[in-house]
Amino acid sequence: MSETIIVPKGLYGVAVSETGIAKSTSDGTLTYRGYSVEDLFENSSFEETAFLILYGRLPSKKELLSFSSALKTNARVPEQIYGIMKNLRKDAHPMDVLRTAVSALGANEHRLSSEEQKQSLIAKMPALVANCYRITNGMDTIDPDHDLDTAANLLYMISGGRPEKFDAWAFERELILYMEHDLNASAFAVRVIASTLADVYAACTGGIAALKGPLHGGANEAAIEMLLKFKSPDEAAIRIQEMLARGEKIMGFGHRIYKTRDPRAQLSKQMLKNLLKEKKKEETMYELCDAVEKKMWELKKLPANLDFYAAPTFYTLGIPIEVYTPIFAASRIVGWVSHYNEQLQDNKLFRPDAIYTGPNKLDYVSMDKRS
Ligand SMILES: CC(C)(COP(=O)(O)OP(=O)(O)OC[C@H]1O[C@@H](n2cnc3c(N)ncnc32)[C@H](O)[C@@H]1OP(=O)(O)O)[C@@H](O)C(=O)NCCC(=O)NCCS
Repeated sequence: MSETIIVPKGLYGVAVSETGIAKSTSDGTLTYRGYSVEDLFENSSFEETAFLILYGRLPSKKELLSFSSALKTNARVPEQIYGIMKNLRKDAHPMDVLRTAVSALGANEHRLSSEEQKQSLIAKMPALVANCYRITNGMDTIDPDHDLDTAANLLYMISGGRPEKFDAWAFERELILYMEHDLNASAFAVRVIASTLADVYAACTGGIAALKGPLHGGANEAAIEMLLKFKSPDEAAIRIQEMLARGEKIMGFGHRIYKTRDPRAQLSKQMLKNLLKEKKKEETMYELCDAVEKKMWELKKLPANLDFYAAPTFYTLGIPIEVYTPIFAASRIVGWVSHYNEQLQDNKLFRPDAIYTGPNKLDYVSMDKRS
């Protein structure tokens, strides 16, 4: 073997794969398959963006219809999976229930072809996400409404009522922003698992596990919990300063790639403003966010990331907080499956080396001689 190369901690600045799916740059741009996220946010739908990310090009009308129809046909989750979810503790976090459910679905569907498995998993994620929330809150499970598209359906299944058109549209915009983000921690986890030739459920179960952490997808729930503690923009600015002085991390800020702006956060910020206006609500939440964003830039030169603005947008839509990270997963599943496919197109097992720092040449000590 050639000499081991030592890379920076956290693989900071190290490229470990090629990808043709998405590209983010340090000066704050993001493209999916060459299209800017701003363009897709403005013009595209969940299904169309998903097709683009999965297959590398915008669909024709016929292709889009057939893709959307396949999602609908496969959207129902078997009762057996709900049974497994219901057997978990009621105080479990919905993300833990979702992780278990995706793993269980893999055991159930191991006889399907790889293509059928990917289609089934993407199609079932909205029902799994909504019902992991419903089950942990003692509510009855709900099936998808065949007349609704993915975003509206997810909102419907969470709340139990058909969403307003504007709400469904706004929610769909957030899902588009969440759908893919090149080699983030969960996509990397998916690719590592894919590289062992494990199935797509195994890889995406790993993706969900990585997404749960507050340094990744869990940041959206942590960000809104923090924002709800602030009563005014002035108080928010003071509290942020105090938190930083205590060495605390402010969730929803900072990014491995974006150093000046996260383009998704700025789109989501504008969406939050529009949504508050549409709902004739006071702009307090927007002003709180803006105050925190300004303080973070002034003191740390750290930009708000998507989680910081998606969270208050979900909150304004009346979505319960504990389902924010699962919602992220319902959209990111598209990116994960695309990374799974891309990894297998030119696979090499991920198996890095490590610098051993433990003890050497110890002699075994029998139990009675151990102190
Ligand atoms: C996202 C994150 C993990 C990126 O980590 P990273 O690439 O290793 O971060 P950086 O190396 O750019 O951090 C630079 C400095 O800013 C600090 N920093 C980064 N994010 C911070 C935050 N949200 N609050 C306070 N300080 C932060 C780091 O501690 C580091 O300080 P140091 O040099 O004194 O150790 C990190 O910014 C973070 O933890 N953010 C909060 C969680 C979050 O919002 N996650 C969602 C990401 S989309």
